[in-house]
Amino acid sequence: MADNGSILVTGAAGQLGAVGRTVTGLLLERGLPVRAMVRREDDRAAALRAAGAEVVVGDLLEPADVYRVVSGCRRVYFGMSVSAGYLEATVTMAAVAREVGVNALVNMSQMTVSQMGIQNTTPSPQQRQHWLSEQALAWSGLPVVTIRPTVFLEGFFLPLTSPTVRDRGRIELPFGRGKTNPVSSGDVARVVAAVLADPGPHLGRIYELTGPRSQDMHGVAREYSDALNREVTYSDISPEDWERELKRHGLPEHLTRHLVTMAELNRAGRYDRLADGVERVSGRPAMSVREFVSLHADEFGGRRS
Ligand SMILES: NC(=O)c1ccc[n+]([C@@H]2O[C@H](COP(=O)([O-])OP(=O)(O)OC[C@H]3O[C@@H](n4cnc5c(N)ncnc54)[C@H](OP(=O)(O)O)[C@@H]3O)[C@@H](O)[C@H]2O)c1
Repeated sequence: MADNGSILVTGAAGQLGAVGRTVTGLLLERGLPVRAMVRREDDRAAALRAAGAEVVVGDLLEPADVYRVVSGCRRVYFGMSVSAGYLEATVTMAAVAREVGVNALVNMSQMTVSQMGIQNTTPSPQQRQHWLSEQALAWSGLPVVTIRPTVFLEGFFLPLTSPTVRDRGRIELPFGRGKTNPVSSGDVARVVAAVLADPGPHLGRIYELTGPRSQDMHGVAREYSDALNREVTYSDISPEDWERELKRHGLPEHLTRHLVTMAELNRAGRYDRLADGVERVSGRPAMSVREFVSLHADEFGGRRS
């Protein structure tokens, strides 16, 4: 099918990091035509349509759906929920993108992959699948741009720390003394949108994305305190208690194992990273924890006047 000029954005209805949804908005703001892929018709799909996107419904695990949604597009953002079928979906997308003749495939990955290899993997099934997905995309010969963000403020710190910060003024995580440098998924989306708008200079590149400061969790808690104008402290809970709590909330096994591994790697200092990808590609400095918590003050229980 001929190129209709549209940019395909998968996972466009996302609500966690919502990279796909934010990328869709940013590309539309630039006046670029966007085909937004969602899993089902719902309010989120209607909102994307109202914003000006062409909304298409499909399942990334169904090759015929993927072929239908990619056909006509030459630029693609590929990202979906942390889930057991991630590698299968990536390889399906790669097969279709080759068939259709995609000119730029922007692949969402994770920063941990930078430290992984055949002899050095992690127990997270998601991280293993991202590592394998990157391998498969490299073998595919497709023009790929790889996005490797560290842990998200929106997709991790907001859902997992706001309840205890609201109720007890405490961040409760099993991160030990490890340093971490979370990134806003809004910044990640700005990088992805900049690449999709003009992929040429970025093809073949890998962008590592972090926030502006790597610090231990007491430092992170001080940024929460400054943003909320009240004391927020860090409480280092046991990994076993945390895992029990995640299971109590009924999280899928794949996601639980991923989160438990993230905590283990944080304790081991593996999230102590600082990369300049956000500013280099988007032209804007990465958002700090303090700025993020200020923007979401109500969800963290409000700012004391
Ligand atoms: N969270 C973090 O800290 C973090 C850090 C680094 C990298 N990442 C990476 O970021 C990605 C997740 O991005 P995000 O947080 O922006 O995602 P998100 O907000 O969770 O959105 C993911 C979207 O994918 C859709 N989806 C799931 N399975 C699908 C399928 N089979 N077919 C079609 N659509 C499907 C979901 O649809 P429904 O809404 O209908 O379920 C959802 O809208 C993952 O690759 C993850 O490894 C995350």
